[in-house]
Amino acid sequence: MRVLDAARDDRLTRDAMLAALDASGLRGLGGAGFPAARKWRAVFAQPGPRHLVVNADEGEPGTFKDRWCLQHHLYRTLEGMLLAAHAIDAEACWIYLRDEYPEARHDLATAIVTLRQAGMALRPIHLRRGAGAYICGEETALLESLEGRRGYPRHKPPYPGEVGLFGRPTLIHNVETLWWLPEIFGAPDAAARFAAAGRRGQVGRRLVSLSGRVRNPGVHNAPAGITARELIEEFGGGMQTGHRLAAYLPGGASGGILPATMADLPLAFGSLDHLGCFVGSGGVVVLSDQDDLVEAVRNLVRFFRDESCGQCTPCRVGTQKAAGLLDAPHWDRALLTELAQAMADGSICGLGHAAMNPVLSLLRHFPAEVVP
Ligand SMILES: Cc1cc2nc3c(=O)[nH]c(=O)nc-3n(C[C@H](O)[C@H](O)[C@H](O)COP(=O)(O)O)c2cc1C
Ligand code: SF4
Repeated sequence: MRVLDAARDDRLTRDAMLAALDASGLRGLGGAGFPAARKWRAVFAQPGPRHLVVNADEGEPGTFKDRWCLQHHLYRTLEGMLLAAHAIDAEACWIYLRDEYPEARHDLATAIVTLRQAGMALRPIHLRRGAGAYICGEETALLESLEGRRGYPRHKPPYPGEVGLFGRPTLIHNVETLWWLPEIFGAPDAAARFAAAGRRGQVGRRLVSLSGRVRNPGVHNAPAGITARELIEEFGGGMQTGHRLAAYLPGGASGGILPATMADLPLAFGSLDHLGCFVGSGGVVVLSDQDDLVEAVRNLVRFFRDESCGQCTPCRVGTQKAAGLLDAPHWDRALLTELAQAMADGSICGLGHAAMNPVLSLLRHFPAEVVP
């Protein structure tokens, strides 16, 4: 843990870390893409004690890069966590781990003991198991769950950086966001190199979970701004034999669906907003001419229906209603659009806001697939 050592003996100061974060342009990779440096400053500006929470819930369908970090680079990930904790002077670190990752739980528990014995963990590190609810990946639901309550998202503001875990200022980061830190802080020019790695004017790199009809599905370290076609060709080994690219999900279940004719667009935070889509947590799912897109959309909406926590009516009832409407042989475009608007306007959290993205994408980008 060379970088952590440098931070501990002040060769790498807090200001230097913040400057490097600024220069790297690193954004939160759990989905929202909030600039990391701004979050650190906001949390550190609050009076202590503060907490550091690692969001290892990884529930977004099509996203598995956090598991890869924990499986293949566990100590690098933990070093990133300890660097962030050091920078905000956190009282304790809390890791909220998806329960479906038992190997990661075992490895984390062992590593935490090792770090303690080696004197590297200067603050308590708590490992907590999620209970399989997608909504507990949402940061405020996660905090509720960590505090021992049902995982209902909180109203924001206040944001966790002000009032977070146990009412204390809390820095919450996705596993991958932390994974990047040792690299970004590891050399004087590393932050600038990270920033410059993007394509088409986009900043940085990220771990893309690539799945679906490609030859080599898996986690790929790709430049921001890469296109879906480049991802498939350069990293995915091309399409599987007998499959022709028909569509892709740029950001897991929530990020919408785009047709093959739009496979040359840069994938980056904000780059797909005008199409009603987003890259979110970087899970790219490739669909082919042999996939039934309408059935895929039904499946995604059923997922949101099942995972809605039920706290607010537009999402709880809206997802149920939508799933029913989609089962009809002919879709009521006007009603589905109105329902989507009501859910986007009236839901508390991102699940309700994004649940209809697959439907809206299909209506907008694949008119021939939908029987009006
Ligand atoms: C419904 C929903 C589910 C989410 N699930 C996850 C998740 O599984 N893992 C994650 O890191 N972020 C998830 N997020 C994003 C978190 O709320 C939060 O933005 C993130 O943990 C912040 O870390 P980052 O700044 O490093 O991205 C989810 C958000 C929503 C709205
Ligand atoms: S939008 Fe859905 S998931 Fe989010 S709080 Fe409301 S009911 Fe729960």
